[in-house]
Formats: sequence, structure tokens, C-alpha cells
Amino acid sequence: MPGTILVLNGPNLNLLGTREPDIYGSDTLDEIAGRLEDRARELGVEIDMRQSNHEGHLVDWLHEAQANGAKAVLLNAGALTHTSVALHDAILAIRVPVIEVHLSNPHARERFRHKSYVAMAAKGTVAGFGAASYLLALEAAATL
Ligand code: DQA
Repeated sequence: MPGTILVLNGPNLNLLGTREPDIYGSDTLDEIAGRLEDRARELGVEIDMRQSNHEGHLVDWLHEAQANGAKAVLLNAGALTHTSVALHDAILAIRVPVIEVHLSNPHARERFRHKSYVAMAAKGTVAGFGAASYLLALEAAATL
């Protein structure tokens, strides 16, 4: 639907809730989706939240955001953040603004997480606030 904010989640984020809760918190992705839905309703915007463990799905969904006239994309690409030139290129290939989202602060973690192919192409980044990173990114997206 035109004007929708797509919320795309990459590898291993389906395991939120049980995955390294000391780093990622104990909220499941469904719980985060619920909170985003509530806030989106208040802001008067439509969201569409998805998750895939496969890089190509995320590339296809970025293309779909462009084709469908999405308002913005919130993208937590998980580990693909640090490896995927394909996601970098897909973000550059579309005109829809993409906001990078992370639960943790990758810059305060291992060195291999310091490089982000997503950040180099994204409009901006929200990281380090746990599930609230998604809500803060939604606030930003709603103002675009
Ligand atoms: C993450 C950070 C990444 O480095 C990691 O690979 C993830 C989650 C985050 O939300 O903090 O899978 O994107």
C-alpha cells in the first residue's frame, strides 16, 4: 500500500526473546511488532513488519517498497549489516528512505560489527536502545 512504512528484519531476529537476551533483551519480534502497531496507529501511519533469514528476500522487499510507493523502510539487517553489498546496492537503487535499526550498539561490540554496509547507504541509524530503537526509528520515519 502506498505510504506504508515497511519494517524489515534479517537473520536470527526471529529468535528474539530467547537469543542472547543480555544483549538483545527479552522482547520477542512479535511483541516489538505489537508496540510498533500501537504507535503507528497513534501517528496515523501504516506499518508492515517482516522477517527473513535470507538476504534475497530482504533485497526483494526493498525493491517492493519502491514499487509500492512505501513512505520509508526501517531495516534491521542483523549480521547482513556487516557483510551485504547486495543490501547496500538495493538501498541505493530505491528512492524510498531507509533507516537502519539495531537493538544493540554495534560500535560498542566486536570489531567486525563496526562496519555497516547499510549505514553507508541509509538515511540514518538508530542503535543501542533495545526494542525502543524501532520506536524511535518509527518516529523519525513518520516525520519524513
Ligand atoms: C543487530 C546487531 C548485529 O550486529 C547482529 O548481527 C544482529 C542484531 C542488532 O539489532 O543489534 O543480528 O542487528
